[in-house]
Amino acid sequence: MAIRKIRQIGDSVLTKTAKEVTGMSLRTKILIEDMLDTMYEANGVGLAAPQVGVLKRIVVIDVTGEDPHVLINPRIVETSGEQTGNEGCLSVPGKTGVVTRPNYVKVAALDADMKPLELEGTELLARAICHECEHLDGHLYVEKVEGELMDVEDLEDAEDMDDET
Ligand code: NI
Repeated sequence: MAIRKIRQIGDSVLTKTAKEVTGMSLRTKILIEDMLDTMYEANGVGLAAPQVGVLKRIVVIDVTGEDPHVLINPRIVETSGEQTGNEGCLSVPGKTGVVTRPNYVKVAALDADMKPLELEGTELLARAICHECEHLDGHLYVEKVEGELMDVEDLEDAEDMDDET
């Protein structure tokens, strides 16, 4: 498969609303494979199709490196609790900022075979689901940062450095 170019903040494709996927095609299957390859290559935990320049409602997420999720037309149907922590994004390289998210999220979506699925996540998985779904509506986490956007290298505690989505 192939590694695709990750679009960076300032690219207008990141501010647009992505379109629903209405059917699976070879082209979309290849896109999903490429998104997974691109996410792993960049050491990210999630990637949304607009980040590779494609305005389709598709995200891939893998917070452990061995549990890939493909979510097509994802819709958050339930949230609870709250977590506040550092977040990053492959489209905003070298930066991090504090964002408050639900600590639990349930999302309804279609899988890569266009079959309905539900996925529940807590902590980092919940954060990644929220972050990726916002990409599909043209939003970046930098819009919700509490305080200043920081340079990753200035973070004393760099444990979240590889949590870019
Ligand atoms: Ni992101």
